[in-house]
Amino acid sequence: MATAEQIMALLRSHADKDDQRFYSVALQMAAREARQGHQKLANDIKLMVEKSQQRGANLSLASSKPVSLIQQPKGDLQGLLEQTHTPVRLGEVVLTKEVHEHLVRVLLEQRQKEKLAKFGLLPRRKLLFTGPPGTGKTMSAAALANELHIPLYSVVLDSLITRFMGETAAKLRLIFDHIRATRAVYLFDEFDAIGTQRGAQNDVGEIRRVLNSFLMFVEQDDSESIIVAATNHPELLDRALNRRFDDIITFDKPEAAQIRQLCENRLAAFKPTQLNWDNIISAALGLSAAEITRACEDAAKDAVLSQSGSISTDLLLKAIERRKKGQF
Ligand SMILES: Nc1ncnc2c1ncn2[C@@H]1O[C@H](COP(=O)(O)OP(=O)(O)O)[C@@H](O)[C@H]1O
Ligand SMILES: [Mg+2]
Repeated sequence: MATAEQIMALLRSHADKDDQRFYSVALQMAAREARQGHQKLANDIKLMVEKSQQRGANLSLASSKPVSLIQQPKGDLQGLLEQTHTPVRLGEVVLTKEVHEHLVRVLLEQRQKEKLAKFGLLPRRKLLFTGPPGTGKTMSAAALANELHIPLYSVVLDSLITRFMGETAAKLRLIFDHIRATRAVYLFDEFDAIGTQRGAQNDVGEIRRVLNSFLMFVEQDDSESIIVAATNHPELLDRALNRRFDDIITFDKPEAAQIRQLCENRLAAFKPTQLNWDNIISAALGLSAAEITRACEDAAKDAVLSQSGSISTDLLLKAIERRKKGQF
């Protein structure tokens, strides 16, 4: 049997999301079992560790955008703020001219904030991103952070509300202390969890309190960080909330030009020629950028697996149709 210390160490490494330690404790347990003559159990543990490590390695290879977790906040902020790094640049986010220019404007003001300050002017820094799922809101927040060479922190609102019932205002204060102390992009993603209309039917007291505290903190915040709140449901947002932001940026599903750009970007490795763009674009209209990207990836896999190695209009159209039907 595993010792109590080993079980504690396992739990601790799980809580810290420290895979390496988790595996090494599991292997120590296997070694202990082997010493006690439990060869089969020891082997089973070892095999499971190897399989799981392999799967972890495959996952990080498969993802086109490696996300590494670095310098996670410890102590009171653990589980509330997560620092993520997605090495995406603004140029990779396919946006309408209007949205792109909006974001460029934010970058320009941020880069020249000292110059603005000399005239008592403040750069835009409290942003509300609205629009359907998969239109690049999260990706754009990451791009802003990378372009400005500052970290990106995601604020995990779900855990704020569910895990800290009753202490959310205190936790929000900690988050806003961090916002003041460390210049970064702070993404309040899936913001609807707290942003719902005050007084709405399904309103729970706690959510209303969180929203009120959030509004207060956003209003009082005069830090140098960038606050991005993102929502798929702007219609649910309280008007009072809108007033707290310097800028509201509305993301939308891609139009013809962006559909073509998304496909060309994702399929660049295949150097596709002679695709019937008119057909592809009219099939893809109405899909989100995320869905179009996934359809391109499916078509690319089909091309590789069919050994022809090339992308045809037909393969891409089929992948788009599958996405539309919600199939894989
Ligand atoms: N505008 C876009 N340009 C390029 N890729 C996009 C865009 N929008 C979404 N994607 C793709 O879909 C994925 C999910 O998009 P995300 O930014 O999380 O959408 P949202 O936050 O709006 O729901 C991205 O990681 C990217 O691969
Ligand atoms: Mg998102």
